[in-house]
Amino acid sequence: MSGLFISFEGIDGAGKSTHIAALAHAFKARGRAVTQTREPGGTPLAETLRRLVLNDPMDALTESLLVFAARRDHIGQVIAPALAKGEVVLCDRFSDATFAYQGAGREFDWDVLLTLEKWVQEGLQPDLTVWFDLPASVAAVRLADARVPDKFESQPGAFFEKVASGYARRQDQAPQRFARINANQSPEEVWKDVLAAVQARGFLA
Ligand code: TMP
Repeated sequence: MSGLFISFEGIDGAGKSTHIAALAHAFKARGRAVTQTREPGGTPLAETLRRLVLNDPMDALTESLLVFAARRDHIGQVIAPALAKGEVVLCDRFSDATFAYQGAGREFDWDVLLTLEKWVQEGLQPDLTVWFDLPASVAAVRLADARVPDKFESQPGAFFEKVASGYARRQDQAPQRFARINANQSPEEVWKDVLAAVQARGFLA
């Protein structure tokens, strides 16, 4: 059985977490081994880098280098070995987040990110990317009730509009990889759409 790599994306507040957990449950119920992980993070080194990226002020190149360094470790230690064993890897964010946040949000050079992506991922891309698309204004209301915001969560609405445009650009560049989900619905409706997107590709038959 070959491995399956699914990433989940969206602006902060888009509500990915419960659906990732539900999908992990659905795959396990069908007898698949599941690795549920996240970026930046997923290994001790990458979790250390995550704390720096989420809390310390730095320029956009430094931020990009740190998230790609974390990704390199995460791929080598966790993602590639799990895929080689035939597991399902469910990853909360992957490199589309770098293009959306550092590329579009922070207006860092898209071509430099493409070069870093090539070096770090050596062609590895998710089989499917589920993009929870939510208007920045709705996400802001949801985040207002949330825990103490990190560096990104405390950005103004205009930042998240740019981030969303970055996701749209990535989808345009790889339309077959993306499933765009309308996240501005009830959790039940969003879950129905997530399940349909996964099943439409024959992944949860
Ligand atoms: P999370 O809160 O959904 O786990 O995501 C962590 C934050 O890090 C989120 O605000 C998005 C941001 N991020 C980047 O800026 N660049 C990246 O490459 C990744 C993976 C996340």
